[in-house]
Amino acid sequence: MDVASCLPVRGDRIHPVGDQAAAGNVEAIPVDRGQFVPDRKRDDEIAMKNRQRTPCRDQAAVLAARECRDGALDLAGVPYVGSGVSGSAIGMDKVVARELCDAQGLPSVRWIAFDAASRTNGALSARHIAAELAFPVFVKPANGGSSVGVTRVMGPSGLAAAIEEAFACDTRIIVEQGVDAAREIECAVLGNERPEPSVLGEIVPSREFYDYAAKYLEDSTELKIPAPLEPELAQTIRAHAVSAFRALGLAGLARVDFLLDPRGGQVYLNEVNTLPGFTSISMFPKLWEASGLSFPRLVTRLVELALARWEESRPLRSSWKPA
Ligand SMILES: Nc1ncnc2c1ncn2[C@@H]1O[C@H](COP(=O)(O)OP(=O)(O)O)[C@@H](O)[C@H]1O
Ligand SMILES: [Mg+2]
Repeated sequence: MDVASCLPVRGDRIHPVGDQAAAGNVEAIPVDRGQFVPDRKRDDEIAMKNRQRTPCRDQAAVLAARECRDGALDLAGVPYVGSGVSGSAIGMDKVVARELCDAQGLPSVRWIAFDAASRTNGALSARHIAAELAFPVFVKPANGGSSVGVTRVMGPSGLAAAIEEAFACDTRIIVEQGVDAAREIECAVLGNERPEPSVLGEIVPSREFYDYAAKYLEDSTELKIPAPLEPELAQTIRAHAVSAFRALGLAGLARVDFLLDPRGGQVYLNEVNTLPGFTSISMFPKLWEASGLSFPRLVTRLVELALARWEESRPLRSSWKPA
């Protein structure tokens, strides 16, 4: 079945399935194609239109809305593409995701997380950061995306502004050891219980790092597929991508991003994106195309995975009465 050709288009009404729908408890939901298949680009377009206001809040709202949508669809018994509520929320949270990945022994740069209380109780200080990490460091909101609120800090004097910027986007922030001139390697993962990694891709931004401008405002970023890497290293990174997918309890799809130190060859897990860009020019479909899965077949596979996950959850007890 070529599912891509039967996806609903804007304004169509799809009919939810499952017990709730069968019982007539749920009404048909109007959808557009962007809602049916995850599309970070589309979400980012919404964020960009609003960026004169508060870009990170708007983006966070779009992504938080997705977690609510997952929950609403779970309650309604409607299958959907991608991770469930917990996987989506954990994947979005750089601190929680990192704790889980670290616990699995996945390689990470040194990092420190701060909450809002740390600003007043003395835990957050430039001296503490400088004692724990070497500059440059990266300061980021715990929840965010598109590099919004992310700053590369070259020395202690730049910390205050970067911390302010990250706290403008979230109530928790993470400060990470920077990898100098890092190579950015990405792996697309597809599956439920048995996730599979794609070939690897490399992002080569023309700016100092892959910031908002490099992602959306300029056209100078180069993609290399497959990433030029020793086969053994590529295999290790692909295995790490699958381990991260499992560690966070993800489903359907994710893009797992790595930083590679060009000097020592050490690789670090940077982040997991449970809603990777999904336009025809995005890395996720391109990596699968290079792995032998065309865009229509990829969409079909995603819908099959969504249906398989939904089928699996159907027999689960959703109510209980004491004997
Ligand atoms: N520890 C780091 N060392 C070097 N570069 C980094 C580091 N963390 C982030 N970056 C750069 O910042 C970009 C955005 O950071 P990332 O954590 O991926 O945030 P986002 O979720 O906003 O994409 C990365 O693609 C990379 O270019
Ligand atoms: Mg990123």
